[in-house]
Amino acid sequence: MRLTAVFTGATAAAALLAAGATAHAADIPLRDLAAAKGKVIGTAVTGSKLTGTYGDIAGAQFNSLTPGNAMKWETVEPSRGTFNWAEADQIVAFAQAHNQQVRGHTLVWHSQNPGWLANGSWTPTELSGLLQNHITTEVTRYKGKLAAWDVVNEAFNEDGTYRSTLWYNGLGSDYIAQALTWAHAADPSAKLYINDYNVEGVNAKSTALYNLVKSLKARGVPIDGVGLQAHLILGQVPSTFQQNIQRFADLGVDVAITELDIRMQLPSTDAKLTQQAADYKTVMDACVAVTRCVGVTVWGFTDSDSWIPDVFDGYGAATPYDENYAPKPAYRAIATSLGGTSTPPTGACTATYSVVSQWNSGFTGQVRIACSGASLSSWKVGWTYGAGQQISQAWNATCTQSGATVSCSNASYNGTVADGGSVTFGFNASWSGSNPVPTVTLG
Ligand code: XIL
Repeated sequence: MRLTAVFTGATAAAALLAAGATAHAADIPLRDLAAAKGKVIGTAVTGSKLTGTYGDIAGAQFNSLTPGNAMKWETVEPSRGTFNWAEADQIVAFAQAHNQQVRGHTLVWHSQNPGWLANGSWTPTELSGLLQNHITTEVTRYKGKLAAWDVVNEAFNEDGTYRSTLWYNGLGSDYIAQALTWAHAADPSAKLYINDYNVEGVNAKSTALYNLVKSLKARGVPIDGVGLQAHLILGQVPSTFQQNIQRFADLGVDVAITELDIRMQLPSTDAKLTQQAADYKTVMDACVAVTRCVGVTVWGFTDSDSWIPDVFDGYGAATPYDENYAPKPAYRAIATSLGGTSTPPTGACTATYSVVSQWNSGFTGQVRIACSGASLSSWKVGWTYGAGQQISQAWNATCTQSGATVSCSNASYNGTVADGGSVTFGFNASWSGSNPVPTVTLG
């Protein structure tokens, strides 16, 4: 514990939480912070990983889960009429056990469809029947259990025209209204979304989505929300992000940030991670600022479960936890935006070593122990001399030196360091050649 005390005056909550061994355990969970703000903080998950540390974090930190792949058509119906709900069921059960929402993802998409569907040749009537059947079957299976469905995914091109897909080509643009209508019939309580990427800022694509939502609302088609995926690049959060969220909200629909990740060119550096934290904060703040922004889901919470390195060559480190489940600056940025503290509640007593005066063969040194947000009833500091220094005498502390190792503990009268207070002790020592300042350990 470098420069950090074993503190006795910390809050009960911090002390209790600090008992957990992992670095993230000392913080208030993101889900509690989010709930206090009436927001969702979610993560995409892989069902098979929901044990051990991955499961612990997914359950403890997030109040919503999105199956990363488990509810996609190719997963649930790999061959026609043969269904595989195992992973989707598992994720829903995990969410229920952890009092979490589930966001269903996704019913109608051009990608990750089973081969039999994608490679078949279908009349419009057959295609419509297949889609209705798929939606009805899947939505009914999870009826009453999901908070929301990404009903239609990625319907637009970058220029705002409709993407040429199996669905658009076979059924025309009204496949969207039909899909929403069928989904609503199967589960009237699930919030129904249209979801897309590169629609975070105001641009041609997001404006096409805006116009679609407006016309669906005008027609009375059941549409509850818009999902902004937010697969972003470091330093490139669109400046119109909040304005864009607000314009959708003003249409009378909810907005969810559904797949947030912020990728950087590898390797990651401290500077990039700091920028990434700022970007995460910008995204979070925008959602927090708009009442109808229901919350933010990250597309994987750990870099070990992120799609980015597989798809964007040379990029990665896009999520709030690193590959070893250590929270990154982005984690703290999310917490801060949700009203958490900006620094972890670790011990706030420090020891500082300085040389007060120095002459040809000797010097006087001092160590100051100061506390802020914590206090001490006794203390002990230690250091290792790197250049042969030797203590001869100390005051206001009892010091011993064995080889290069120095250990000093409080005198009978100055063990207490109050919150906001400090204690200083001094010593004389010899040196020759050089007199570098050692690293002092408190605790
Ligand atoms: C990704 C998954 O994370 C990957 O595991 C899979 O190989 C491909 O799909 N937009 C979406 C998500 O809507 O479904 C995608 O998920 C990422 C882009």
